[in-house]
Parts: sequence; C-alpha cells; structure tokens
Amino acid sequence: MSDLSVKFAGKKLRSPLGIASHAVFNGGLVDPLAEAEHLRKYVDQGAGFVYTPFINNEDEHPADAPPAWKFMNIHSRSPFAMEGLLVATEARRIMCRLNPGLTLIETLRENLPDDVAVIANMIGPGADAEAWAEHCRLAQDSGADIIEMNVSCPIPAAEASAVTNYCRGELCEAAGALLGDSPNLLIPVVEAVVKAVDIPVGVKFTPETGFPRLVALAQGVRDAGAAFVSGINAPISVAPPDIYKGGQGKWPGLKDNPICAALGPWDRFLLYRNLGTISAFVPGIELTGIGGLVEPEHVVEAMMLGARICQLSSGLLWKGTGLIKECLDFLDSYMASQGYKSVEEFIGLGVQYIKPVEQLDWRCEDFLATVDDRLCTRCGRCATGICTARKLMENPSRIVIDSRLCVGCGLCQAICPENAVSMVEQRHPVLGFSMQQ
Ligand SMILES: Cc1cc2nc3c(=O)[nH]c(=O)nc-3n(C[C@H](O)[C@H](O)[C@H](O)COP(=O)(O)O)c2cc1C
Ligand code: SF4
Ligand code: SF4
Repeated sequence: MSDLSVKFAGKKLRSPLGIASHAVFNGGLVDPLAEAEHLRKYVDQGAGFVYTPFINNEDEHPADAPPAWKFMNIHSRSPFAMEGLLVATEARRIMCRLNPGLTLIETLRENLPDDVAVIANMIGPGADAEAWAEHCRLAQDSGADIIEMNVSCPIPAAEASAVTNYCRGELCEAAGALLGDSPNLLIPVVEAVVKAVDIPVGVKFTPETGFPRLVALAQGVRDAGAAFVSGINAPISVAPPDIYKGGQGKWPGLKDNPICAALGPWDRFLLYRNLGTISAFVPGIELTGIGGLVEPEHVVEAMMLGARICQLSSGLLWKGTGLIKECLDFLDSYMASQGYKSVEEFIGLGVQYIKPVEQLDWRCEDFLATVDDRLCTRCGRCATGICTARKLMENPSRIVIDSRLCVGCGLCQAICPENAVSMVEQRHPVLGFSMQQ
C-alpha cells in the first residue's frame, strides 16, 4: 500500500481525500449526532478530513419557511455529453445554526482519529469582521482543526435582496459569493479571523471571481494571513427553459426557473483555472481542490496542479460514499505504477508546465495532420470547419491536406469522430510538395 498521507495546513492527514462541505436538508434543526454519524461513513471509507456544513448565526429557523430544496440533473447529447447537477434553495432555510454547528464540531473531534481533520465551514454574518472572528474562535474552541471561510456560497448571492443590496454596497447576513468577490470587504474579515484564532484559516473562492482577479485575490488573502485557498464553490446559473412548455422551468414540482447553483463535472475547468493560475502566480499559499472532481483521475490532475487535498461533493451524491474508496484505491495503484512513494512527489508536478501563451514554443512547422483512410468515413466535418488546409476531394472521395497551409493546430484531430487523424512530428515539406497523397 502506498503512503497516502499528506501534510495540509500544518497537520498530517492520513489521506488527501474527503467530503466537501454539504449543508444538510434540515439545516436549522440539524441533529449534530446524526450528522456526525453520517460524516463518519466517509471516514470509514478512508477520508483524511471532513467538513461541517456552513455555520452561521443562532437565529431561529424561520417558522414560515421550512427547509426547501430543488435538485435537477442536466444532460446534453453526444459529442458534447455533459452532466451536471443544479440546486436551488434559500440560504436561511438550510444553513446550520451556530450552536448545533459547534456541537457537531465537538462530536466529530471527540470521535474521529487524530489524523482526520475536522474543518469548520463558516459563513458570515455578512462582512461583520468582529462577528466572523467570534464565530471562528468558538469553532476553534469546540475542537475544529482548521477554519474554512465560505465566502463563495452561491445561494445567498443569488437572492434578489442580495443583488439590490450589492448594488447599494451592502451585504446580507450570509453574504457568500458576494463577500468573496469583494476584496475590499473580504480582506479585513480574513485579517480579523486570522488574528482571532490559532488554527489555520483558509478561504473558499467563488468562481464568480474570474481570471486574473482571482490571482490578485489569492495574493490578498495570503498577505492577510490565510494558510490556504479552496476552490471553487459552485457558480451561479439558470437552468435551460423548457422549449416545449413556453419557456417555463424544467424543475420537478416548480413552474418557475430559479437562479441556482451549478455543480458537477462542468465546474472542473474553472477549478483547474484557479489551481493552475494561483499555483503559477502566488507562491506561499496552499490549495485544496474542490469543484467538478468526479473521477479518480481528476484527483491526480488537481493535485498535479497544486492541490494538497481534494474534496468530493456532487460526485459523492451521484456515486455514493464508495467514491472515496474508489479514488484512494486508484491513487494507491497509480502511485505504484508511476513509482511515486508519497503523494508529495506529484503534488504540483504539473505547475512547471503552466505558461502564459506568449511563452509557448509553438513548433508550428514540426507537426502535420495525417488522415488514416481506413478509419475516415468522409463525413467532411474536418473539411468544412475553419481550416483552409483541408479539402474533401471527390473521385476518389478522400480528405487531403495542403501541407503548406497546415499549422499543426490539432483541430481536425480534436473534432474527428472516428479518431482518423493523427498529428505526425515531421518538418513541413518545402513549397512545391503540396498535397498529401
Ligand atoms: C447539497 C449540497 C450542499 C452544499 N453545502 C455547502 C456548504 O454548506 N458549504 C460550502 O462551502 N459548500 C457547500 N456546497 C458546495 C460544495 O461544497 C462544492 O463546493 C460544490 O458542490 C462544487 O463541487 P462539485 O462540482 O464537485 O459538486 C454544497 C453542495 C451541495 C451539492
Ligand atoms: S472528420 Fe474524421 S472521419 Fe470526418 S472526414 Fe475528417 S478525417 Fe474523415
Ligand atoms: S492540424 Fe489544423 S491546420 Fe492542420 S489540417 Fe488539421 S485543422 Fe488544418
């Protein structure tokens, strides 16, 4: 068995995988013992850490607004096949109140092994630095090993009042992504939290902060004393309308189409953007991978881009708790096959290859596309796109490439449904030797 242990935020964890923060269905009434029991299932599968659901003020769960969620799965057709989970809810109807949250932290810390970190996912209130600091101190006193500031939740940020308040420069109580995307408000809150606790503090980023602003934000939270950046949380979206029902929503039990959160595989490239660019531009801060990781290979990819630990979220909803073990088994055999003795050997290994485009060695003249006539079905797809080097010839019908014009871009290879195109490493022939036969 490979050594899967990893050092994260100064703590040695038995493995780099665990469950992301998941608000529970009856958040206001959360039963800490039942929730701790639930999280234990992931630890039994080998998780090296668990996250609490997002924890905020102690207000009563609103009696006029019982917990409410709607989920929807989205598929698209091949070759663009993409799966994703949409979720619509209201923050105040689901968030974990402070006292049950603290009891949950206490129960987890008492019952889990030392090398499994309990990470408290704290949210709000608003941008009130003092109250944030107080909540996080309480989380520390209850036994949390690490604090993750959830300044990325799409749910409060998707509410109408949040939009109005944001335009006025105000924030609602659980600001989520609004706070995360407002550096001038966020940095003082991070500083206050870091000052208030002795345990490591991280910041969970929202994908609403795009490139290159996210790089500046990572520098800002690092300079404010944060030990790590997590990310990403889910982006805000709107589901496609039902085109056969006059544009109404497709949601189970709803006619409307809520502003919602988009989870799952489609988040992965936003995560890689964050991991890759923060790794490349912001030394001195650790990273966690969260967002769109649903296959074991995704975990290694995220780690190679600099993530020290990886959190699974909607992947666990789709595939069940067993996904943790599946990923750990994969890591074990992957490391054995690649000769890695510890995960430290491949964390960040891909970062050296991340380059701004103007620093690439393009090697345009060194690659030519070639078509395998036995596999090509003459569908014409590659010939009718933007490339001027390719033509679908009649009599005999076949694809030909003008080698003077091919720039070795790989588009025809990328779109060919039959895998009929290869990029061959060879210098382009000189003028006069034009058509490939
Ligand atoms: C049911 C559910 C509840 C969630 N609750 C929280 C939460 O309390 N705190 C938080 O930071 N993120 C929460 N998230 C977001 C996830 O932690 C994660 O950031 C998001 O699902 C993106 O990862 P994925 O693409 O792998 O699903 C929740 C996600 C789901 C599906
Ligand atoms: S896309 Fe592929 S199969 Fe279609 S014509 Fe081009 S090489 Fe042939
Ligand atoms: S590699 Fe690019 S330039 Fe060359 S034939 Fe294919 S699409 Fe055209």
